[in-house]
Parts: sequence; C-alpha cells; structure tokens
Amino acid sequence: MSEEKKNTPAERSAEAGLDVNRRAFFVKLGLGSLSIAAAGTAAFSYQFLSPNVLFEPAPIVNAGKPENYALDSVTLDANTGIYLIHAKEGFFAMSAVCTHLGCLTAWKPELGIIACPCHGSKFYVFEDKKTPGEKIEGPAPKPLPWLQTWISDEGDLMVDRSVIIRPMQFVRV
Ligand code: FES
Repeated sequence: MSEEKKNTPAERSAEAGLDVNRRAFFVKLGLGSLSIAAAGTAAFSYQFLSPNVLFEPAPIVNAGKPENYALDSVTLDANTGIYLIHAKEGFFAMSAVCTHLGCLTAWKPELGIIACPCHGSKFYVFEDKKTPGEKIEGPAPKPLPWLQTWISDEGDLMVDRSVIIRPMQFVRV
C-alpha cells in the first residue's frame, strides 16, 4: 500500500527531477575538470614551445663624458659590473666581478684597494709597480680583467664588457 503511495506521478516526476539535477551536476563537474585540464595543457604547451632564451643587456656601456671622472677616481657601475678608473696614465675599465665565484667587488677608498665581500679577495688599483686588478690576497684565481675602452665620436667613454684586453692599455683624452 505504501509502495503505491511512493509511486504517485508527482513523486515519480520529483524523483526524475532529482535524477536530472544529479546528472546535470556530474556533467558540469566533468566539463569543469576537462576545462581545467585543457587550460593546464595549453599553458604547459605554450611554455614548452616558446623559445628558452635569456636576454642579457648589451655588452657595450656608454660611461659618459671623461670629465665626469676625477683624477685618481674609481667609479663602480653596479648595474653593468664595471669599474671606470681615471688614473694619471689615462682611463681604463675593469670588470667588478670577482674571478673567484663571481661576487660583485667593492672599491675601498680608505684602503685604496678593491675587495670582494664574499671570501676576502683583494685587488690593487693604484699601487706603484703593481698592475691594477692584480690580486693582493684571497682565493681569486685571476686578476680583475681589463675591458676594452675607447672614446666615441661624441666624446663619451665607451666600454665593451665582452672584450678583455691586455692590462696597461690606457685611454688618453
Ligand atoms: S667570490 Fe670573491 S673571493 Fe670568493
């Protein structure tokens, strides 16, 4: 008797409605999952297919007018990792990157040397009978390299960080 009451048309349609709702819910859930998976695949594919290139700044640096550099001055450009040095013999540029493990060195005016903060390498700058960049002490295996430096047609000091030159080649203005 009670079985018959549960199967009235109204109950059956309510049950069917619930079924439809449940089915619609699972369909939406499935579509949502597929959309997330497709978006993840698309993002991964884009990353995989796009060129894996490292854009580095240009190696040539315009260091400005020579008159901006006082005699016996050592100017660090931390952005490009170079020292622009005005010695009595002329101008020259050295890499400021330590030859040990690549830390950025620092000019110590109170000591008159360049020092590396990482493991204590020290380098000459204005010492008599010493080549600027030569190591004083520390684990650095090589001196700080001199970089190609010249005066542009506009009268600016130019440095090519990609070209290492023999030391003691000064630019005279
Ligand atoms: S990186 Fe300069 S001494 Fe180690």
